[in-house]
Amino acid sequence: MSTLIVYAGKYGTTEKCVKTLAAKINDPVEILNLRQEAVPDLTEFDSVIVGGSIYFGQLQQACRQFCRDHSTELMRKKLGLFICCGTFEKTEDFLDASFPADLLEHATVKAGFGGELSLKQMSLFDRFVARMVTRAARKEGRSLPAIHWDEVELFSAAINRQVV
Ligand SMILES: Cc1cc2nc3c(=O)[nH]c(=O)nc-3n(C[C@H](O)[C@H](O)[C@H](O)COP(=O)(O)O)c2cc1C
Repeated sequence: MSTLIVYAGKYGTTEKCVKTLAAKINDPVEILNLRQEAVPDLTEFDSVIVGGSIYFGQLQQACRQFCRDHSTELMRKKLGLFICCGTFEKTEDFLDASFPADLLEHATVKAGFGGELSLKQMSLFDRFVARMVTRAARKEGRSLPAIHWDEVELFSAAINRQVV
């Protein structure tokens, strides 16, 4: 059973999560960065995993577009959906807002992997926003962004349990 992981991210968190996830999946896996590569023929894959990071409450545009363009094919696959976001507590809300309802219902695995703020790599504007978000979280006693590797682990385990 072969799996395609399709993703879009900006500063490397999503990519890091995807690479770890791919390494934990038992069957052959191909990775597609939507911001850099063209979409291959999806008929070659039994499972597709789609995910990306959240900016200002929205999933990466390239992911949203991919889901719109390939909805019919995705409905015929084993499907996994994930997001990376700074506010882990909002994972359910972000998942619901990010993917079309039919795909959400069809997907067998859904998760949020958390996120991180890689300030050094950010544009000035993004760094400014990230600092504001961090300050607000500290002030309100909320947890700071972090990758939830346990969620990546659970996701891979669920994918490995799937049979065609
Ligand atoms: C400008 C900016 C806006 C963001 N907006 C949100 C947001 O609305 N909600 C949230 O939970 N996280 C938000 N984040 C956090 C990102 O989702 C998080 O940094 C994620 O790890 C980014 O992954 P990437 O490097 O793969 O793009 C934002 C981060 C930045 C820099």
